[in-house]
Amino acid sequence: EQINKGNYEHYMQKEIHEQPESLKTTMSGRLIRGGSCKAKTVLLGGLKDHFKTIRRSRRIVFIGCGTSYNAALAARPILEELSGVPVTMEIASDLLDRQGPIYREDTAVFVSQSGETADTLHALEYALENGALCVGITNTVGSAIARHTHCGVHINAGAEIGVASTKAYTSQIVVMAMLALAIGGDAISSQTRREAIIDGLFDLPNKVREVLKLDQEMKDLAKLLIAEQSLLVFGRGYNYATALEGALKVKEVALMHSEGMLAGEMKHGPLALVDENLTIIVIATRDSCFSKQQSVIQQLHARKGRLIVMCSKGDAVSACPGGFGRVIEVPQVEDCLQPVINIVPLQLLAYHLTVLRGYNVDQPRNLAKSVTTQ
Ligand code: G6P
Repeated sequence: EQINKGNYEHYMQKEIHEQPESLKTTMSGRLIRGGSCKAKTVLLGGLKDHFKTIRRSRRIVFIGCGTSYNAALAARPILEELSGVPVTMEIASDLLDRQGPIYREDTAVFVSQSGETADTLHALEYALENGALCVGITNTVGSAIARHTHCGVHINAGAEIGVASTKAYTSQIVVMAMLALAIGGDAISSQTRREAIIDGLFDLPNKVREVLKLDQEMKDLAKLLIAEQSLLVFGRGYNYATALEGALKVKEVALMHSEGMLAGEMKHGPLALVDENLTIIVIATRDSCFSKQQSVIQQLHARKGRLIVMCSKGDAVSACPGGFGRVIEVPQVEDCLQPVINIVPLQLLAYHLTVLRGYNVDQPRNLAKSVTTQ
């Protein structure tokens, strides 16, 4: 029954709107709160015999393509914080091009919605040859990546039909946040933080439901942006991945040039592009990078960039003083989970831009849902 559009016009639209439910399914049976010992904990059955090895690994290497890579990038900071193990990132094709180092002492985590992407699968073969512990995070039970990894976690987001990945992205981030909690174990020093994240995970479907109410606002914004040549998205920290993924959505379905950029790199090149004709989305929700983002906003404003600022609810005055620029206010959640919220308005924007520009939402030209050739 999942494989029809229900009351929606397109699969992408349906999949964006079903994220409160898909996230619930992803977490179902895996988050434990309360009970006799009142403990808050995470159970990932597919990994239970491997946590010792993962904790002892020399590093965790995330490997994926496209949206799956971006999901891993979004989860990287919390993995680093809770696991204490260095975390590096590899785009599958680039790892193969370089024949980059993978060691026996590594844990290589393969992230793939379909579980069939050729680049990721070849990178898996390569990591297996090099003796790494290989973990799969996929949405497809029985897929090649699920079968060939040593162990793994299914994201259980339900079938995703739209070529542009939406609900799989948010479920992948949630699985990797749970992975971080599980690897982190029960160290007293991080107990408060871990409990806050678990509470945040429980409440996340409600918060996603809340952010989905921005649908009409994003449609109105899409009307304003319909004829843009180019759109930049600036993020940093937890939301660097949001910038990359938001821009990827816009380019893959709305067929508009769009780039996600690390805000910390703004001064090292991108600033030269900014004038009154360039529209820039800046992600500036509250976290430890907020004051740096305020300064980025000021600098972009000084160069007359047309700004759209994504900020936490009620924070418009601090994020965008003087009322310049347009503001997208989103519910605030625990910092490491904020990427799950922040991507939703950008998914909606990409969706509406595509429909308004008259392109095929579910099957963008030249793209395939699963790229099974190299
Ligand atoms: C294709 C799809 C993308 C997807 C990428 C990785 O390029 O069009 O939406 O993110 O493959 O796919 P995977 O199934 O490995 O997550």
